[in-house]
Amino acid sequence: MRLTVNGERREADVWGGTSLLTLLRDDFHLLGTKNACEQGECGSCSVWLDGEMVCACLVLAAQAHGRDVRTVEGMAAPESMHPVQRAFIDAGAVQCGFCTPGLVVAVADLLQRDLRPSDAVIREQLSGNLCRCTGYQKILDAVHLAASRTQQGGAGRPAPPGDTPLGDPTSRQDSQ
Ligand code: FES
Ligand code: FES
Repeated sequence: MRLTVNGERREADVWGGTSLLTLLRDDFHLLGTKNACEQGECGSCSVWLDGEMVCACLVLAAQAHGRDVRTVEGMAAPESMHPVQRAFIDAGAVQCGFCTPGLVVAVADLLQRDLRPSDAVIREQLSGNLCRCTGYQKILDAVHLAASRTQQGGAGRPAPPGDTPLGDPTSRQDSQ
């Protein structure tokens, strides 16, 4: 199978039952996408597939053939963290950190659509992300911090997940 991951064209041989989560972690060594439940319950494996946030544990790797996958590793620029990542650190929203990549993806996904989310909207967006450590208040603080910084332009607008230098992944498939 062929796909694009974080803007890079990748190939892999996969067994039909292999999940996208296993492909990302075991074949491509993208360990920021966490494996906690493999049942779609915790959100720690959240990635974008053609710009739509999904639980990678619930998607077959084969379903990503010819498509564009973006993981948490694809969010930050080489020289700087993504503003959501920076806000999580500054707000003290990271403890053990196991849930953090999935939360960062979910928050960035929200802020693409809504730069002034209410607590209720944030809670709804993050309802599929479980954290055993923080009690969630600092996560809410981090979301508001990232949103306000982005509104002010100080930390840059969260990058669109499908914004790869290779353009439209569906047209890419035919050219390989
Ligand atoms: S590992 Fe995918 S939702 Fe928990
Ligand atoms: S920071 Fe430990 S599970 Fe969320």
